[in-house]
Amino acid sequence: MPVKGIHIEGLAKRYGSGDTAVDALKDVNMEVAAGEVVGLVGPSGSGKSTLLKALGAVIEPSAGRMTIGDTVIYDNGWKIKDLRALRRDSIGFIFQAPYLIPFLDVTDNIALLPMLAGQSNARSRELAMTLLQALDMAHRAKAMPAQLSGGEQQRVAIARALVNRPPVVLADEPTAPLDSQRALAVIRILGQMAQQYETSIIVVTHDEKIIPTFKRIYHIRDGVTYEEAGEGRAFT
Ligand SMILES: Nc1ncnc2c1ncn2[C@@H]1O[C@H](COP(=O)(O)OP(=O)(O)OP(=O)(O)O)[C@@H](O)[C@H]1O
Ligand SMILES: [Mg+2]
Repeated sequence: MPVKGIHIEGLAKRYGSGDTAVDALKDVNMEVAAGEVVGLVGPSGSGKSTLLKALGAVIEPSAGRMTIGDTVIYDNGWKIKDLRALRRDSIGFIFQAPYLIPFLDVTDNIALLPMLAGQSNARSRELAMTLLQALDMAHRAKAMPAQLSGGEQQRVAIARALVNRPPVVLADEPTAPLDSQRALAVIRILGQMAQQYETSIIVVTHDEKIIPTFKRIYHIRDGVTYEEAGEGRAFT
């Protein structure tokens, strides 16, 4: 088994150049172990989305180092040739809105990802079903997205982010549209999934309902991260 977890050191991102340059990230340092969920909290414009995009290889950093397990992803330049494959196989994304495909049923919304990664249709649906069972959604496997509640849709989005068993999952405000009980349920599920799948999960959030549940929180301000022990309050 390769070593897992994500490690970021001195990460920087400058948008543009010259007079109009914006240093969105200046010095980001993070370490998230396999099986761990951390919070990432900071004011508007502090660099949260930029950091997730850099981690997700959607934008290119300007400097620093990022590793996933023992694989160097970026070290003052990309160290991976196939960034598409990296995004598809190693990184799961969960957004504020579930962005399910409206004309595919729940199973196929999830199975699409392993299919794109080259698995057979039957195997892909089997992988989808395993996650639906873990998320207590197996009874909705044949439903269409429009027939689901907001919390159920978000669970499908979580299943989709995890189905390829990526070592890293990035979540940008995943609980914002949910009420308190459903928001806590989503965070509880992410915690269980992180452990079961040995995934490192980073959750960007402003959500006061869930901040007390993190054991560790990274604060980001003007592109610089600071680590803090969270309350890690147990779920009731
Ligand atoms: N494509 C871009 N080109 C130039 N500047 C950008 C670009 N994207 C973001 N920025 C700037 O980088 C800084 C960080 O933006 P970012 O979107 O990462 O903040 P954020 O913490 O996600 O904020 P929010 O909480 O409002 O979503 C801001 O000053 C923003 O204006
Ligand atoms: Mg943002």
